[in-house]
Amino acid sequence: MSATRRSVLTGGLGLLGLGALSACGGGARPVGPRSAAVASTEAARHARGLVTTSLRAAPATVDLGGVVVDTWAFGDTVPGPTLRVDAGQVLRVDVRNDLPADTSVHWHGIRLRNDMDGVPMMTQDAIRPGGAFRYEFTVPDPGTYFFHPHVGVQLDRGLYGVLVVEDPHEPGRYDDEWVLVLDDWVDGTGRTPDDVLAGLTTGSGSADASGGHGMGGSMSGMGGMGSGGMGGMSGGGGDVVYPHYLVNGRVPDDPDVLRARPGDRIRLRVVNAASDTVFRLSLDGHHLTVTHSDGWPVEPVKGDALLIAMGERYDLLVTLGDGAFPLTATPEGKDGQALALVRTASGTPSASAAATTTFGTVLSLESLRPLAGTTLAARESDRTHDLALSGSMNPYRWTINGRSFPDTDPLEVRSSERVSLAVSNMSMMVHPFHLHGHTFSVRGSGVRKDTVLLRPMQRLVLDLDADNPGQWAAHCHNAYHAETGMMTTLGYVT
Ligand code: C2O
Ligand code: CU
Repeated sequence: MSATRRSVLTGGLGLLGLGALSACGGGARPVGPRSAAVASTEAARHARGLVTTSLRAAPATVDLGGVVVDTWAFGDTVPGPTLRVDAGQVLRVDVRNDLPADTSVHWHGIRLRNDMDGVPMMTQDAIRPGGAFRYEFTVPDPGTYFFHPHVGVQLDRGLYGVLVVEDPHEPGRYDDEWVLVLDDWVDGTGRTPDDVLAGLTTGSGSADASGGHGMGGSMSGMGGMGSGGMGGMSGGGGDVVYPHYLVNGRVPDDPDVLRARPGDRIRLRVVNAASDTVFRLSLDGHHLTVTHSDGWPVEPVKGDALLIAMGERYDLLVTLGDGAFPLTATPEGKDGQALALVRTASGTPSASAAATTTFGTVLSLESLRPLAGTTLAARESDRTHDLALSGSMNPYRWTINGRSFPDTDPLEVRSSERVSLAVSNMSMMVHPFHLHGHTFSVRGSGVRKDTVLLRPMQRLVLDLDADNPGQWAAHCHNAYHAETGMMTTLGYVT
């Protein structure tokens, strides 16, 4: 599969921008990333103020807390730098590519101008080794976001960082704010993510592919993929066994230590930057209150743990007790754990990490209700697209409506339409479905999100207003699923 995919990826921008779309457009013309509609939509955002920074993607040797790995990173840290900007400002980031491979930077969750979305073949040409690209765009909405390349499985290296968009009008009812980035880690431990991908696609890496070992044929109808044991989410176990799970770039043996005073109210900005792992997050001895999902405010809801899929972000509030408490992120259906330590006093942690195996109320999409004023206006759909997510382990290939990207059919939309995406997971694996450049409203609750986890055989209808012209990726945020085909384009046409 790599040969086909790679030859596509090394072509020019025109290939997908025109070829794939006009093939299905039936006379309709695609609204390209450099069209006037994109420029005028950006102008209408009336940005105020400019924040400038730079990123350098390069090979780096990184200490994950006693585990030293050679990887690719932004700067020489994992995660990369946390960028901060106020909603309504323009963010300008000069990116330099010192990797031995093409790359790009995608601003995950941001409703930005299409030509700055960072998807090679869809919105820009890849940044060549030794090359550079200036990203510059208005950041319209407050919230917790992140950035990562949109090339191959580079997300599964150390190439990610958090983008915090502050709300200048927010009262800020908390004493401090912590960013927590969760990740599954393999790079530099004897295998690179490209090796893992090759193992999956050639079948030679069956020892690396827990879900895939010996499981040929279609995914449909296969049960029990998630070997998570008690309480594990069915089908959540992913395809890749990782030697390490990280919070803020640290393994549990030498974790990140977050310090505060007893009684402090802390806002946690949690990002799941993993490529193949859904996590269950909890802070020992504490309730967590979800306040935002994918940047959007929700009715505050309290629980004991939170399920967070790849590409999702949650903001949580927690009032800290007196002591030292493990904050754990347990991978669904996999062995191992990610850990950070929260400290408001000296002394030994309240519980050993391994002891945190039971959960009370586990918060997930179903627990969320939108905050008043954040819902999409009621309106009939002008257009509905059905998406069936499926695939097979042998050969390793993932599909939308039976086709693998770049051969998937683009989802045509026109500006100003109300569009509904009816997404059906026809497999026994979980898939976090992510749409670029928009947020959708999950029909039923009306919660606004840009990344939503579909459980095995689950169907969700996602409503959105087509108000951001261009060509937008829509895909599973499992990096290995997306790279082997579970991706399409939400393509504006005129
Ligand atoms: Cu976080 Cu298309 O990506
Ligand atoms: Cu998937």
